[in-house]
Amino acid sequence: MTSAKRKIFVAPSILSADFGRLAEEIQEVEKGGCDVIHVDVMDGHFVPNLTIGPPVIRAIRRVTKLPLDVHLMIEQPGRYLDEYRKAGSDWITIHVEASSDVDADLKKIRDLGAKAGLSLRPKTSVSTLKAYLSKIDLVLIMTVEPGFGGQAFMPDMVQKIKDLRGEFPGLISVDGGIAADTVKTVIEAGVDVLVAGTGIFGERDRSAAIRKLRMG
Ligand code: DX5
Ligand code: ZN
Repeated sequence: MTSAKRKIFVAPSILSADFGRLAEEIQEVEKGGCDVIHVDVMDGHFVPNLTIGPPVIRAIRRVTKLPLDVHLMIEQPGRYLDEYRKAGSDWITIHVEASSDVDADLKKIRDLGAKAGLSLRPKTSVSTLKAYLSKIDLVLIMTVEPGFGGQAFMPDMVQKIKDLRGEFPGLISVDGGIAADTVKTVIEAGVDVLVAGTGIFGERDRSAAIRKLRMG
């Protein structure tokens, strides 16, 4: 399908929002026309940063009707899938490098009634995902080293999107350094979901930022 026909989902990453005004920040991007809310969960082990957990996701669930796209950057995510689903996650993405039983974790996510996603660090090759492609709804391609917002987009990752597009009919999401100056190349490569933290919450006019991203 050409990029003109494909629906592009815009997913603001709340990592760059003002956590003291989180409800207002989320309502602002919802009004601004975004499609899902991206929530970054970090455990201080899989990545060298700590963010939020189920209580905050429960609170977010109460302030928006949009799907919550929860990106688990945590070791052995299988231990917590029930809890993240109960808290209100609609899409749950785990890292292929973080789980010792990827098949079981993906099955569990689907059994819980969520969309199952699989993500990979920049150094992990797309071929690592091959065995799982029929068992997932979404692939989240990292275009920065996971752990922090505001890093520079890695252009070398665009080839991964192109390679995957040929063999995966589900949603391809891209996360890291997505903003007005980098979005065109990833849309042309075939992505469906644009995750953007700084590229949306770092802008004064969030509606305009969302609109521009969607247009590529
Ligand atoms: C990084 C996170 C991203 C992050 C992106 O580990 O997965 O979702 O918020 O931030 P930006 O868009 O600022 O690169
Ligand atoms: Zn993320």
